[in-house]
Amino acid sequence: MVPSFVSITAFLAISLETVLIPVVMKPAAYAALFVSSTVLAFPVQLQKRDDIDVDILQFALTLEHLENAFFKQALSNYTQDDFTNANFTEDFYTQLKYITHDEETHVSFLETALTAAGVTPVEACSYSFPVTTPQEFVQLAAIIDGVGISAYLGAAPLVTSKQYLTVAGSILATEALHQAASRNAVGEIPMANPFATPMGANAVYSLASQFIVSCPSSNMALPFRAYPALELAQGMPVAQNISVSFSAAGQLPSSQSYITFVSGLDVVPVAATVSDNLVSADVPAQLSGQSYAFLTSDNSQNLTDANILFGPAILEVTPLSPTFNTSLL
Ligand SMILES: *[C@@H]1O[C@H](CO)[C@@H](O)[C@H](O)[C@H]1NC(C)=O
Ligand SMILES: *[C@@H]1O[C@H](CO)[C@@H](O)[C@H](O)[C@H]1NC(C)=O
Ligand SMILES: *[C@@H]1O[C@H](CO)[C@@H](O)[C@H](O)[C@H]1NC(C)=O
Ligand SMILES: *[C@@H]1O[C@H](CO)[C@@H](O)[C@H](O)[C@H]1NC(C)=O
Repeated sequence: MVPSFVSITAFLAISLETVLIPVVMKPAAYAALFVSSTVLAFPVQLQKRDDIDVDILQFALTLEHLENAFFKQALSNYTQDDFTNANFTEDFYTQLKYITHDEETHVSFLETALTAAGVTPVEACSYSFPVTTPQEFVQLAAIIDGVGISAYLGAAPLVTSKQYLTVAGSILATEALHQAASRNAVGEIPMANPFATPMGANAVYSLASQFIVSCPSSNMALPFRAYPALELAQGMPVAQNISVSFSAAGQLPSSQSYITFVSGLDVVPVAATVSDNLVSADVPAQLSGQSYAFLTSDNSQNLTDANILFGPAILEVTPLSPTFNTSLL
């Protein structure tokens, strides 16, 4: 489930505090912090094994395996010339190689952390990605990286070990650099939203499972499930305030339902209209950049297994031209 507003605000207050403390620290304290975090960095040793942390790390590894396979397939399927013929720059191709190396490193890092905690790491699955050109690949890369960011952010408040939280934040920041490179390469504004979007594990799994064909039976079962799919029934990007329609992988409800849109830290339910097996609502003005939509049975803004009927669908919303206040110069 997507953390509620209350928990997001609490989470922000905590992270802000952690960010601010080092700023007022004396240089010696700063150095001590640096040294201790360097010592912590690798390998991560789990003092007290907590099942929720193991589930989250295994889930993170599941996603990193998927990304690792996705980027490696692309570098194996398409040459540098294929990318430059599709109008991507040589610099971008170089960045793709670094991204692929990062994903491979995330996989081995998490495997090491899990092994150190006495847990057998999940193995890679077999995947099917609906892309046949460099352009389609980079477009999907931007989306998959965005989903990965949402996964780490949504899991952050559930992590009990602060050490693991640092690891999650560290990987998240690098995934955001990856997404920025891919969004930039396909002409999307990387920083379309001042906030990244936290998303619950079941919602993330609903998206990731669409690319997973089968997994080794020896993989530890994870306590996550996929919701029935919801898909945007029109081209992207979409604009704020326009009506959008979705198709659902199942019978639409006959009682009043809601499209609950999620973008950055905004969770915005809008009464849905059902017609011709499509469900429609207007895109709220709060949406910007890679956003998500759920069909929900209520408008509580509290997304849970109990009220999510279908979703999430992914929608890319064109950001407004930025305005800002320079009067404090
Ligand atoms: C790579 O090519 C294989 C074989 O055609 C295809 O199944 C796979 O989806 C492609 N993957 C990517 C990321 O392009
Ligand atoms: C690459 O850019 C050129 C020049 O703008 C254009 O003619 C061509 O169609 C583009 N190729 C692709 C694959 O987008
Ligand atoms: C959407 O509507 C809001 C509120 O009326 C407005 O502030 C915003 O500029 C609109 N967005 C677009 C893209 O027209
Ligand atoms: C959200 O819904 C869940 C499940 O119904 C409930 O346990 C939780 O307290 C709710 N949270 C808020 C902030 O209302």
